[in-house]
Amino acid sequence: MSTTAASPYRRTHTCGALRPADVGRSVLLCGWVNSYRDHGNLIFVDLRDRFGITQLVFDREDGAHEVQELADRLRNEDVISVSGKVRIRVGGPNPKLATGEVEVVVGALHILNKTVAPPFLPDDLSALPNEELRLTHRYLDLRRPRMQQILGLRHRVTKIARDYFDENGFLEIETPVLYKSTPEGAREFLVPSRLQPGEWYALPQSPQLFKQILMIAGCDRYLQICRCFRDEDPRADRQAEFSQIDLEMSFVQREDVMAMMEGFARRLWKEALGIEVPPIRRMSYREALETYGIDRPDLRYGLPIADISEIARKADFKVFQDALIKGADRPRFSSKRGVVKALRVPGGAEKLTRKITDGYTEWAKTFGAGGVAVVKLTPAGFETGIAKFIEPLRAELTAALSLQPGDTALFVADVYSVATKTMGELRQKVARDMGLVPEWGKAWEFLWVIDFPMFEKNKDTGKWVASHHPFTAPRHDQQAAFVAAPESDEDVIESMVSAGYDLVLNGSEIAGGSVRIHDPAVQSKVFSLLGLTPQQAQEKFSFLLDALKFGAPPHGGIAFGLDRLIMHLAGTENIRDVIAFPKTQTGADLMTHAPGPVTSAQLRDLHVASTWTPPAKK
Ligand code: AMO
Repeated sequence: MSTTAASPYRRTHTCGALRPADVGRSVLLCGWVNSYRDHGNLIFVDLRDRFGITQLVFDREDGAHEVQELADRLRNEDVISVSGKVRIRVGGPNPKLATGEVEVVVGALHILNKTVAPPFLPDDLSALPNEELRLTHRYLDLRRPRMQQILGLRHRVTKIARDYFDENGFLEIETPVLYKSTPEGAREFLVPSRLQPGEWYALPQSPQLFKQILMIAGCDRYLQICRCFRDEDPRADRQAEFSQIDLEMSFVQREDVMAMMEGFARRLWKEALGIEVPPIRRMSYREALETYGIDRPDLRYGLPIADISEIARKADFKVFQDALIKGADRPRFSSKRGVVKALRVPGGAEKLTRKITDGYTEWAKTFGAGGVAVVKLTPAGFETGIAKFIEPLRAELTAALSLQPGDTALFVADVYSVATKTMGELRQKVARDMGLVPEWGKAWEFLWVIDFPMFEKNKDTGKWVASHHPFTAPRHDQQAAFVAAPESDEDVIESMVSAGYDLVLNGSEIAGGSVRIHDPAVQSKVFSLLGLTPQQAQEKFSFLLDALKFGAPPHGGIAFGLDRLIMHLAGTENIRDVIAFPKTQTGADLMTHAPGPVTSAQLRDLHVASTWTPPAKK
């Protein structure tokens, strides 16, 4: 590479660097034309790179003729290099720019590359174009200062992670991306093997088993900033291809892993945002579900949910009675037992109009509930909705829910799983409707959720699935009970508590992990409960079951969702904003046009028969 003194690429400064102390200096800057303003004698160009913007001045009266001629041809997004002298801004400082006190009077200009007319201007002041256009021309979108700031933040976060975990004795180790199919819950991406006809790799949903094997291999503490692949429908906080800060530790119990991770979260918030995170509180899964209807409660606002089944039992109201009859002989928190849940909305009588509460019923149906019952408390008693059915219970309900005149109460009656889920979602919707959710940066409510159930029933198949993943150990005081638990006793299996933990921030799960099973007998029992025969377990996991027999240390770990961490730190609600090259709702990369067709020759090489014709692309 030529780096002679005359090189027009040899920058003396970036576009964010110059300050009054540089006045009088000769400088060379490179970047993109962010804006161009022709004021007759003077042409002003804002020159942009990822570090900032510097104002350039071309003086028609003073400057060389060829420079002015070139300057006249400049257009937004041309790439240029300029050399000139720094002076104090003649037109007065621009407080919006870090370099706003100075400008560069240009003596020489090189147009390094012209642009064709861009479909949108990548400066943060222009209106954002639609996302399709942004993703199609991602190179332009990423030039925006906001996107550059997010990419920089992402870099800083991974660096802080590497530093913190390095200081704590973690080794960064890479694990394979061509892996094998494992039941971690999500649908997998498959890759056909050319060398082994008819066999397939799967892309890892996470490096879970490799990191456990690394503990068995004596690596003691592992870190990887890795890519995970889950063939699920993308959502605002979910991509099929996403990143984790993945960790595992040997000779640890739950407390050790949680303490280490809490230290990391504190360090991150301190270094990235200058915010001190106080010790993180804990809540059991059951309390989270009972009080907030969800295992990742948003604690930035109150709105606790109450179980009023015992009061509702006395109401002459068919909807309550029909729900309460269901599974009445089941244990208290059985998913199939009928309950009535209530939510007090302080001041809701005025803000939650009839139109809004009618909407709740329709919306609740999407969660399988029959609807949402409504009542308002006035000084004269209950009004509207189901007032006439529950007026006789007013004193009891008012006491149980701490109702005040002007409040609204909302009720959902159904089996435990449906009523809880619906109420949990309703609580969040009500918080938004009542304007209770603080804006970004105003509240950081971290929470550890612990004591998850080991298993949940899959609604569709009726089979047990692991709540976290099949390698999660029972909580240390439940090991013996788990080994003894009869597999056929649904209520006992449903009541088993795991050694898992999730880290929740403002209602979003930013990390999840667990202490792992290191006893092959316990692992085999979990596989059996999940419906794997000993042969199937052997076929799929012989390497794990074998390794567990060769002196596996007790171990545990966690993975942070890197993209979600950045979303929180950057204050965006769209995961696509924090990933350089994200995919759309339909899993497409609009810039490269992936996924795309392949030739029949490629398929033949991979021993894949094309047995059906896919529908034509829209
Ligand atoms: P889990 O599946 O809970 O655990 O994932 C850990 C964290 O990764 C993030 N995350 C996602 N982020 C974006 N898009 C997705 N599709 C997505 N899925 C998950 C979440 C989540 O908390 N192997 C275990 C970890 C362990 O037990 O150590 C695992 O992957 O923030």
